Amino acid sequence: MSTTKGLEGVVATTSSVSSIIDGVLTYHGYNIDDLAEHASFEEVIYLLWNHRLPNKEELTTFKKELSEVSAVPKEILDQMKSYPIDKVHPMAALRTAVSQLALFDEDADEMGEEANGQKALKLQAQLPTIVTAFSRIRQGKDPVAPRTDLGYAANFLYMLNGEEPDEISVEALDKALVLHADHELNASTFTARVCVATLSDMYSGIVAAIGALKGPLHGGANERVMKMLSEIGDMEKVEPYIKDALSRKVKIMGFGHRVYKNGDPRAKHLREMSRQLTSITGEPKWYDMSVKIDEIVTNEKGLLPNVDFYSASVYHSLGIEHDLFTPIFAVSRVSGWIAHILEQYENNRLIRPRAEYTGPDRQAWVPLENR
Ligand code: ACO
Repeated sequence: MSTTKGLEGVVATTSSVSSIIDGVLTYHGYNIDDLAEHASFEEVIYLLWNHRLPNKEELTTFKKELSEVSAVPKEILDQMKSYPIDKVHPMAALRTAVSQLALFDEDADEMGEEANGQKALKLQAQLPTIVTAFSRIRQGKDPVAPRTDLGYAANFLYMLNGEEPDEISVEALDKALVLHADHELNASTFTARVCVATLSDMYSGIVAAIGALKGPLHGGANERVMKMLSEIGDMEKVEPYIKDALSRKVKIMGFGHRVYKNGDPRAKHLREMSRQLTSITGEPKWYDMSVKIDEIVTNEKGLLPNVDFYSASVYHSLGIEHDLFTPIFAVSRVSGWIAHILEQYENNRLIRPRAEYTGPDRQAWVPLENR
């Protein structure tokens, strides 16, 4: 048997949800550059789940269907108040609350197309409600109920802050959600597919995926990018900080990628958003510092920024708490997880690879009293 560490380059399934070919990312054949420029996040969710763009009427109906199921059972919001709120990371809270959603859905284990369609809508619509409710509860505030007249991104900011967001913030968040929606067989999507390939339910697949996204080598990197920027603090300290980190072989969060070696096509959009937003907020230093880090890491290591690098200063500029950055990634990526879960169910086979054994040879049994 031969092994490939980290399954690098291994093609583990077929999929028509998204592709990375020659460094170009597409969602069902649509270039991410076009989607980032023209599509709303709701259109992208529809595309990922239905494998085609909606027409006007279908989009209106889809938005309505989402908004109708966006409220989270009161019992779950009440439970959140009993979490050890000042110690719990929002990703852990999200993982727990999404698991609880299954307890309040009598069709959680129902596998038919109709039931899975309903679960998909509920999960997509309720993740933002959970994330924003948790943020408010830990500040001693009441959760804000979702509004049916606001779009997905606007509703997120409205539930987070309790006031209607401005247009620039809504557009920026919407674009960030589009850019994060799917990414072929990334670690959390693969996790979701492995989970449901046992014919487990959709909630279990999403809980497993949230767990995988949480790690700093995957979605958890965006929060750590902001931590690094905050630690550095100003431009003069960028060079010594980054060079020292690189000399100690510390990984610079937001750089490098398993698949892209010539740059992540999502990063340029987030970089431009970061430039614009940090200038609007009067804090261009976050963008300037990011660009300087980008130059140093690229020159010294030949590593390019990934989706997480500039998204940190984008979310910071939107006034979002730093530990909510990864939950926002989940709020977007749940659309891709669901698309992959549905695809897995359609053509399922248990995912069960092998391991090359590296332990000791066969050993003689030693009774307990002789050890
Ligand atoms: N900073 C410094 N060095 C790095 C970085 C980095 N960000 N990324 C990779 N390297 C170095 C490694 O130390 C290694 O060097 P070596 O050969 O001298 O030991 C070499 O580049 C190869 O790196 P691997 O970790 O083996 O690459 P892999 O494909 O396994 O990992 C990953 C990809 C996890 C993204 C990696 O680049 C990394 O840890 N980046 C930082 C975390 C991050 O930004 N994650 C988000 C990724 S995008 C996403 O999931 C949404």
